[in-house]
Parts: sequence; C-alpha cells; structure tokens
Amino acid sequence: MVPDTFFIQTVGCQMNVLDSELIAAELRRAGYVPADGVRRADVVLLNTCSVRAHAEDKIYSALGRLKHAKQYNPRKIIGVLGCMAQKDQQLIFRRAPHVDLVVGPGRLHRLPELLQRVADGGGPCLDVSLDRAAEDRRSVRQSFVPFTPLRPAKTPSAPHQTMVRIMSGCDKFCSYCIVPRVRGPEQSRPAAEIVDEVRRLADAGCLEVILLGQTVNSYKDRTGPRTIALADLLAMLDRIEGLRRIKFVTNHPRHITKSLLEAVRDLPKVSPYLHVPAQSGSDAVLRRMKRGYGAATYREMLDRIRETVPNAAVTSDFIVGFCGETEEDFRQTVELVRNARFKNSFIFKYSPRPETKAAKLYADDVPEAVKRRRNNELLAIQNVISLEDNQPYFGRVVEILVEGPSKVARKRAAVITKRATAGSPQPGPFSEEEGTVQLVGRTVCDRIVVFDGPRELTGRIMPVRIDKADAFTLFGSTVDLG
Ligand code: 5AD
Ligand code: SF4
Repeated sequence: MVPDTFFIQTVGCQMNVLDSELIAAELRRAGYVPADGVRRADVVLLNTCSVRAHAEDKIYSALGRLKHAKQYNPRKIIGVLGCMAQKDQQLIFRRAPHVDLVVGPGRLHRLPELLQRVADGGGPCLDVSLDRAAEDRRSVRQSFVPFTPLRPAKTPSAPHQTMVRIMSGCDKFCSYCIVPRVRGPEQSRPAAEIVDEVRRLADAGCLEVILLGQTVNSYKDRTGPRTIALADLLAMLDRIEGLRRIKFVTNHPRHITKSLLEAVRDLPKVSPYLHVPAQSGSDAVLRRMKRGYGAATYREMLDRIRETVPNAAVTSDFIVGFCGETEEDFRQTVELVRNARFKNSFIFKYSPRPETKAAKLYADDVPEAVKRRRNNELLAIQNVISLEDNQPYFGRVVEILVEGPSKVARKRAAVITKRATAGSPQPGPFSEEEGTVQLVGRTVCDRIVVFDGPRELTGRIMPVRIDKADAFTLFGSTVDLG
C-alpha cells in the first residue's frame, strides 16, 4: 500500500516552528511520508498562532482556500493545530466545516492516534486542554502535556542548528497576552533529559542549540535535591563535547539574575545575545500591561547587562498603541529606545485578544492610524540605531555559523528548477552551475551575515570579512586563509 503523505504549514513563533518539526518526526515514525505541497498531501496540517488578530485572519483565509481541496482527494484530512486551535476550538468547525481535526498545543502527543481515528471515519475530532480559568488547577496542568517526543538526532532541515524546548507555557499573564491561556501553565523540563537530548544532537553533528521557553530565564528544574536554574543548565550544556554555541530565547526582565549574566560572560559556548522584551518605556502603560517592572527597573537591568557582559547584543519587543497609551507615554518609549541602543527591536501594534485582562478591562482606544504612525516612528529610530550598531563591523572578520542558502538564493533556485523542467534553464549570477549561491549565516550575537560561496559550506563555522552593512544585514566575503 502507498503510505499516506503529509504537509505542514506553520504560522507564528519559533515554538511553533519547533512543534512542526517534532510533529513531522512523529508522523514519519508513524509511517507517513512528507509531501511537497498542499495539493498532493493526504494530510494537511496548519500549525497556528493567535498572538495577534492578523495571524488568525491569515489562517482563516488559508482555511478558506482549502475548501475545495477535497475535490481532488476525498480522503484528504485537514487539521488545525496549535494556539488558535486551543483558543477557538469548535468555532473552527463552524467557520470552516471542511476541517476534520482541531488539536491544541497541549495535546499534540495524541496526533497520530487522532489522525487514525479520522481516517477510520471517526471525525470530526477535537482535542484541547482544559480552560485555565477552571477551578481544578491540577487537572488543568495535567491537560497541558509538554510536547517533547524523542526525535531523530539529525533534523532534516538544519542538522547543524537545532531548537530545543526547555520549558513550556507561561504563568506571567501580561494583560494583553493570550499565550498563558493557549500554551498553559509554566512547566520546566528536567535538566537531565535536556542534557541527554543535546548530547545526542551534538554527537550527530549539531553545532548550535537554541533553547526555547516563553520566559526561558525563569527555567527551574525542581525534580532533584537541588533546584537547577537556567545558569546551572547552561553550565551543564557548556561541557558537551562537539557543541559550539548555545543561545536562549525569550527572557523576561524580572529574571535576569547576576548568576545568569555571569554564566553568559564566563561560559565559552554561551552566546552574548539577550532578547529581553521591554514592551513599553512608560510606567503607566507597563502597569496596565501587568509586566511587573517599571521603566527605571528595566534600565537598571540594562546597566547590569552592560556592566557584566559589555559585548552583549540586546534585543527587545515593543507594543505600540496599547490601551490608554498617550503621546507622552509613547515619547517615553521613544526615549527608552534611543538610550538603550538595542541591536534591534520587534515592534507590534496592539491587537486586543479575547478573554485577556486588557480586553476585559480597558478600551482599545488608540486609533489604528495613530498605532501605525507610532509603529513607523519607533521602527525608523530603531533602524538608525541598528545601522550605527552594524557599522563598526565594516572591514572586520567575524566568525559565523553558515545556515544555508539565503531566501533570495532559494527563490532563484526554485525559478531555475521550474525553468529547467520547462526546458529552458537560465543560469544567473547565483546559478548552480557556477557552484556559488548566496549563503546566510549568523555571528555569535545573532547578527545576520550574507555572502557568496559554495552550498557545501552550510553547517560550517567559519570566518567571513564584512564589506558592507545595512540596518538588518552584514554583507561579507569568504576569507582566504591561505
Ligand atoms: N498585541 C500585539 N502584540 C502582542 N504581543 C503579545 N501579545 C500581543 C498583542 N495582544 C507581542 C509582544 C511579545 C511578542 C511575542 O508579541 O511584544 O513580546
Ligand atoms: Fe505573554 Fe507575558 Fe508570558 Fe511573554 S511573559 S508569553 S508576553 S504573558
């Protein structure tokens, strides 16, 4: 019998990218084979995000486009997974009746079994965790099962660089954020299990691990006689032979401890890169956001970072146009961005999320045009800083981990393949025939470097000379070590 094929489309953050990678591994283990597109796949899975309304709108339009997909293949199974599945539940079946399966992020371990049930005619099928507001806390926790299946040591997408979840969920309940509701309570993975996984990955050739957690620096393994915090875990991972780099995202400002900064400073494999979202520079806004710190405390934390790890690249997230944000509040955010000199900042317009504290308590009263203007203004200020921050790299040789062909190169390759199959190959500046493509790599502090070189350099840690820099990218060339 021909095995069933699957295709996963992913929207959202690195957590979702990792979940999709793990789902793919699980499905392979269950005998499914990857398909190269939606049309041919027997199983189409959308791994979804609900952090902003815009992400959800995109997913519902994608679902709309799948409406007629079953015409070509009546056996096709369509599944909606992840955060939006947990948030919208039955609503997904009502808005998209052709969906067969809805599975929340805390139930992904059941996916192969649920797919079988639908294939046997037992659909449509819904599996989600309990509502976090429910009385029985223990049952709620048990219903959010951390998704940490054993995966093959070599990830097909990037064997040299792997994301590893060290904790799931979030207990912070920032007033604007849906994540604690859809990803469940904070749960740290036992350190021994993480060390084992990373050791297996390193033995298989992985050079860099990116440790993931919604508030990664509140990681605490309390299963043993001694509590293991993130700084301790980093020290354990730093000893793993073959592994060269360790990064971790996302940090919460309240848990940037002295020992964590010392670990970043002292452990040779830990990257001096800290993503610590500030969200706003105004005390009044931060209070309404329930972030648990004020602007002065955030600045003090930045000072501590600069003092202990002077070469650290610090990045941030900001939300503009949050409920009640005045022009004066926004000016304070501008001032923070001007003074903090982040390597870069991700800036978002506030999007009210149902059932969150902010949506219940405060009016979404900043007009869309004002949100847009503030977004653009903050972005423009940050871009000038990012550009200035990149300028000193001009002429310098940096060490990068080569991640593979850049997006531009991948697109060109796809065009060339299409033309080639149509019978008219068109060698261009990045043609495979010349053996050179545009490659992308990253420095230890997460700066993106683009350069031309043979595809075979993928997965190498190597020096590159920087010839040009813009706000987002360093452009380099290979160094002749002759
Ligand atoms: N609206 C806009 N941005 C949001 N974020 C989280 N929730 C919302 C929301 N409701 C942003 C925060 C967070 C990042 C991942 O997404 O800045 O750090
Ligand atoms: Fe959301 Fe706040 Fe938790 Fe981050 S710390 S995931 S913003 S609730």
